[in-house]
Amino acid sequence: MNNKKIVEILNKALTEEITALLQYIQHHYLYKGANAQSVKELFKKLSFTEMDHAYKLGERIAALGGMPTTKPNAPKVPKKSIEMINVDLQDERDAVVAYREWIKVVDKEGDVTSRNILEGILADEEGHVAGLEALLGD
Ligand SMILES: [Fe+2]
Ligand SMILES: [Fe+2]
Repeated sequence: MNNKKIVEILNKALTEEITALLQYIQHHYLYKGANAQSVKELFKKLSFTEMDHAYKLGERIAALGGMPTTKPNAPKVPKKSIEMINVDLQDERDAVVAYREWIKVVDKEGDVTSRNILEGILADEEGHVAGLEALLGD
């Protein structure tokens, strides 16, 4: 088991989670328009889940002897509220693809614990895709 390689993967995932967390918080603050209350509540709920993902990844990184990252990418904050939902949906779809790849790598390294964590997160991200699609009426 190559801890360094696994930590690298988990830190990539952690970067995405911290970014998603900040993006949903910002979208919660700024969303305007139809059904604003329920959309804002969804963004808030999603931000909590992303924070939970960040905790799980950070704790695992530390357990493997690595240093969890604190650096997000720049959150995407479109001016038009409807675009917030679109970028979030695209990001969630990208997350699903990324987690499937990361699970393969971690699995190859024989790290069952990390694999289980990533699989749990993947299931949540699939739920996020479905939730945002429902919002758009897709
Ligand atoms: Fe997440
Ligand atoms: Fe998500």
